[in-house]
Amino acid sequence: MIDLTKPVEVAQGLWWVGSQRPHNRLQCNPYLFIKDGLGILFDPGSVLDGQVVLEKTTSLLPLSNLKAIVCSHQDPDLCAAIPLFEKAGFKGDICCHARAALLIQYYGIKNPFYMVNHHSFSYRLSENTSIGFIFAPYLHFPGAIMSYLPEQQVLISGDLFGSITADWKLYADENYLDGMKAFHEVYMPGHEILAAAMENLESYPIRLICPQHGSIIDKNIEEHINTLKTMPCGLFIQSKQPRLPLDGGVRALLDQVVLRLITTYGEQEVRKTFEKSPFTLNIRKRQIAKTTIPGDKMWESFFSTLEERRGVAYLSSISSFVELLGKQYGLGIPSVFSTLIASSERQIKEKTAELKELEEKLQNLQESMYRDPVTGLYNKEFHQAFMLKELAGGSPLVSVVLAIDNLERINLDHGSTEGDRTMRILSQVILQSVDPHVQVCRITGGMFALLCTFLTKEQAIERAATLGNRIAGEDRFIVPITVSMGIAHSDEVGESSRKDVLQMASDINALAAFRLRLARKKGAGSIVAVSTSEAGSRSAFAILLVDVPSFSRDLLKQTLEKERYRVLTADNGLEAKKMLLAGGIDLVLCELLVPKLGALTLRKELLGNPSTAGIPFLLMSANKQEQTVRRAFDLGIQHFLARPLALYELTGLVNLIASKEA
Ligand SMILES: [Fe+2]
Ligand SMILES: [Fe+2]
Repeated sequence: MIDLTKPVEVAQGLWWVGSQRPHNRLQCNPYLFIKDGLGILFDPGSVLDGQVVLEKTTSLLPLSNLKAIVCSHQDPDLCAAIPLFEKAGFKGDICCHARAALLIQYYGIKNPFYMVNHHSFSYRLSENTSIGFIFAPYLHFPGAIMSYLPEQQVLISGDLFGSITADWKLYADENYLDGMKAFHEVYMPGHEILAAAMENLESYPIRLICPQHGSIIDKNIEEHINTLKTMPCGLFIQSKQPRLPLDGGVRALLDQVVLRLITTYGEQEVRKTFEKSPFTLNIRKRQIAKTTIPGDKMWESFFSTLEERRGVAYLSSISSFVELLGKQYGLGIPSVFSTLIASSERQIKEKTAELKELEEKLQNLQESMYRDPVTGLYNKEFHQAFMLKELAGGSPLVSVVLAIDNLERINLDHGSTEGDRTMRILSQVILQSVDPHVQVCRITGGMFALLCTFLTKEQAIERAATLGNRIAGEDRFIVPITVSMGIAHSDEVGESSRKDVLQMASDINALAAFRLRLARKKGAGSIVAVSTSEAGSRSAFAILLVDVPSFSRDLLKQTLEKERYRVLTADNGLEAKKMLLAGGIDLVLCELLVPKLGALTLRKELLGNPSTAGIPFLLMSANKQEQTVRRAFDLGIQHFLARPLALYELTGLVNLIASKEA
C-alpha cells in the first residue's frame, strides 16, 4: 500500500508530490525531479492543492534549490499554485512555451519566464543534467509541451495520457484505457493532431509516462500510445458514420456505455443504478449480461432507465459520448438527451444573454473609467494606456500637448463654469478638426493631448498650426482663446529608453511637456517642436505685471513688450498669486498697494512656496517710505522703484535680470 500523504518516488530522482482529493474525478499530479541537490517542479497544481504540493516539495528540497517550475500549458489546474510558491520564496524560472507565458503572466507571476521554444526545447538543471521538452501543439493548447528526462526515460506528459475516473490510483491498471479515452475524446481537438504527436513519441525510448491527470503508466506503454494514436477525438465535430458492430449491434454499443459509466461513477454506483431494471449487468465483465428489451427499443430504453433512476444530471457526464455514438452509428440521440440538450441549449442562450449584458455593463464602466467628466474626452489614464499599447506594438507616435493660454483669465473673469464651457467647446473644435484616428485626451486643467500613430512629426506640426488657427478663429468662446503646443515624436527618445515602453512613454510625455512650457513662454499661440531651447530669448521670458488697470499699467506693458518680453497682467494680489502658482512666470513687477492681497504679503506667501520662492520680485510705489523699504528689504526685495518710473531704468533692470535668469 503506497502512502499518498508523503512524496512518492516514481523513478530515480522523480517524485510524485500531489494530493488526493476525494470524489474528484479529475486527479491532478505534480512531479518534482531532483538531481545534484537541485530541483525542477512539473505542473505544480491548483489553488486547491498548492499548499500540499509546496509542503511536499520543501520536505525534499529547500525552495532556494528549486531552479524552475515547468508548466505544460496555462490551465489553472496546474499553474494557479505558482503565486503561492513565489510567496513562499521561490525565485527560479517559469519554464513554458512563449504562447503559454503570454497567458500565465495573468496569474500575477513575478518570476522570470524561460521560454523553452527560445532555448532549443531544453533546460539545463545542473552541469550534467538537462531536461528536454517535446512540443505538442494544440494538445490541447497551441503552446502545449511535454517534458522528457532522458536518463530515466520518463515522459512527463501534461494533459496527454490523462484520464477521468471515479476510482483513482497512482499507477494505471488495465481499466485505465477507457478513462483515458473519456478524457481525450473531449479535451483533445482532433484525431490527426493527436496521432501526429503520438507518432513523434515513437522516436523516444519511454519507460514511464507521468501525466498531469489520471495515473502513472508503467506498463504497456506502447499500447497506451497506440490507443491515443488511433482513437477518435474532438468529438464535438466528428461526422464519420461507421456501421453498427456486426456482432452485438446496439447491445455492444451499450456495453461501451456501461464501461464508461463504471469508469466515471465506480462499480458500486452502477450496480445500484441497474438493480431490478430491465438490464442485468455483469459488473466484473463491465457489460450487459441480459435484457428483456427487444433490440429495436434497446437504445432508447437503456437511457430512459438511467434517467428514471438517476435523473437528468446523471446523464450529462456521458452525454457527449452517447451523442457521439448515436451520431456515428445513425441511431440518433436518445430522446432523454434531447430534453437535456434542449435545456442546456436554453441555459446557454440565457447565459449568453446574461453574459452579453454583463459585457456591455463592463464596457460602459471601462468607458467611464477612461472618460473625462468635464469634456467627455478620454482622460489621462486612457492617454497613458493608449501610449503603452502603441509603443509596445512598435508604432511610432507623435504626441501634441496643448494648453489654453488664457484659461486662468477666463476662470477669474467669468467663473469656472465658463472655464469648463470653454474646455467643452475647445474639445468639440479639436474633434471636428483632427482626423478621427487621432486620440484626443484631456490631461489636466486646460491641458490636452493629441496622440497620432500615422503622422510624421512634420505633418503633425503642420496640422497643429492649422488647428491653432482654427481655435483662434472660433467665435463660440466667451472671449477669444489661443492655445500653445509642444510636440514630441517617439523617434526622439534616447536609445536606452527604447527597450522599456513605460520609460519611453514617460520620456515622450516629458519632452512634449517641456516643449509646451517653451511654447507658453514664447508667447500665446506658439508651437514648439524642437528642444534647441529658445528659453533664453526674451520672448520666452514672462513678466507678471501686478497693478490695477490704468494708463500707467498699459504703458509699462507696451514698453516691456517692445523689448520682446511676454507680459501678463494681474489686477490684484490674489489673482497674481494664482497665476504665479500656475507656473511659467519668470519675474514679478508689483505695485505696493494692490487690492485684495498687498505686495508685501504676496511676496511673503511666495517665499513660503518652493515653486515660487525664487522668482525675482520688483516692487514699485509712488510712496517710497523708509519703513516700507526696510520691510521690503527684509523680504529679499532688492529693487524698490519709485513711481513714476523712468522707463529706460526699468527696461535696463529687467534686461539685466532676464540675462541672469536665462
Ligand atoms: Fe489543460
Ligand atoms: Fe490539465
